[in-house]
Amino acid sequence: MPGLLLGDVFPDFEADSTVGRISLHAFLGNSWGILFSHPRDYTPVCTTELGRAAKLSAEFSKRDVKMIALSLDSVEDHLGWSKDILAYNNDSSCNALPFPIIADNKRELAVKLGMLDPDERDKDGMPLTARCVFVIGPDKRLKLSILYPATTGRNFDELLRVIDSLQLTAQKRVATPVDWKPGDNVMVVPNLSDDEAASLFPSGVTTKDLPSGKKYLRYTPQP
Ligand code: BEZ
Repeated sequence: MPGLLLGDVFPDFEADSTVGRISLHAFLGNSWGILFSHPRDYTPVCTTELGRAAKLSAEFSKRDVKMIALSLDSVEDHLGWSKDILAYNNDSSCNALPFPIIADNKRELAVKLGMLDPDERDKDGMPLTARCVFVIGPDKRLKLSILYPATTGRNFDELLRVIDSLQLTAQKRVATPVDWKPGDNVMVVPNLSDDEAASLFPSGVTTKDLPSGKKYLRYTPQP
């Protein structure tokens, strides 16, 4: 089965989670969403990732992004593990993570969404989920997917950075260059003429001279 492609409507599904039965599309409403999967509960890298995700949850909310995690264990395991994650964060201010964790103990979603990592298996030889990230737009379409093996933890600051880029480029006809951060200059997209760029970006467009003589490196302040 081919995997999900950028621009595809992200499949809706119902699943049990730490906040009860969830239907993905209803949970997302008109917001953006980020779904991130984990190989198993009570594993070290996943614990550090979910701890960081919890610490950054206000940043995701500020961007109107609903967070939702998935791991291959039961709701009961997720609830017990959540306490460890909060303790890892030294957070005694609450007793629940600020986002749900989906229980995929039958691996149904992991299979449906192409999340299994064939190289990582549990003690019974069953494949574990990779560290997938899906960013879903308010139109429920897939805007970004990243796939890491179980042995490499993600960088949640980078996920916020790409969400900033996705949200900016969804509104403005710009693209963000290498290592871009909010507030840095952005690039004018190649399919805009110089005249269109001049009228769309009144703060100015700067073009870098290149040996080819082609005028494609066009910068403008972040609109
Ligand atoms: C972890 O989260 O630490 C982990 C899980 C599965 C394989 C390797 C590492």
